[in-house]
Amino acid sequence: MKKTKRMISSIYDTLNASDSDELEGIYKNWAKNYEHDVINLAGYVGHLITSELLLSYLTKDKAKVLDAGCGTGLVGEFLFNNNFKNVEGVDFSKEMLSIASNKKVYQSLKLVDLTKKLDYKDCVFDAVICAGTFTCGHVGPEALRELVRITKKGGYICFTVRKQEWEAAPYEKVIQSLEDSMSWFEVERHTSNYNTQEGISCQLCLFQVT
Ligand SMILES: C[S@@+](CC[C@H](N)C(=O)[O-])C[C@H]1O[C@@H](n2cnc3c(N)ncnc32)[C@H](O)[C@@H]1O
Repeated sequence: MKKTKRMISSIYDTLNASDSDELEGIYKNWAKNYEHDVINLAGYVGHLITSELLLSYLTKDKAKVLDAGCGTGLVGEFLFNNNFKNVEGVDFSKEMLSIASNKKVYQSLKLVDLTKKLDYKDCVFDAVICAGTFTCGHVGPEALRELVRITKKGGYICFTVRKQEWEAAPYEKVIQSLEDSMSWFEVERHTSNYNTQEGISCQLCLFQVT
């Protein structure tokens, strides 16, 4: 009961942070309990559904992949265990990155704010994966434009958007405008499980850059 309360309050706090400083502070304090809480208590599967979907399309295990909002490295671990070892991780929380770093599954890890212009050249990655980071109070749909810019033509972008965030922010508009400018096209998009113990779903999206 005590743990359930802590889980609900940590997730609730991140979804309701009033600005990025507050959000960063929440992850700073939560980092060491994050995986236990989201997996064992909330039944989070965002890292699994994105990794599995991406790997069903990404054939070359040498592919250069960016894990955007990598957190403690759940996605990186999954990809590494499936022989994808050319993976970079970025996140804006030092404490989350420090846990990811201990896993030794990333080629590199960088402190990056995904809401800003990214310090990468155009067309660098074969794929970008972003699990659990397009969610309330975190990173909004405009950040998709930068992810498209840094992905190679023919490369993939796989991400989740939590249900409430999908409904509240203009994801469909940004996605459509990227389709209209022929920057990418939809490969798959469907409603999926997300936080299974909480009964929360997400949009699971896979786009190909053109
Ligand atoms: C729910 S966690 C997901 C982490 C990981 N992808 C996973 O599946 O476990 C959201 C992550 O987004 C990061 N984040 C939030 N806002 C960010 C921003 N503006 N730039 C970069 N990372 C951000 C947080 O630090 C946190 O690690």
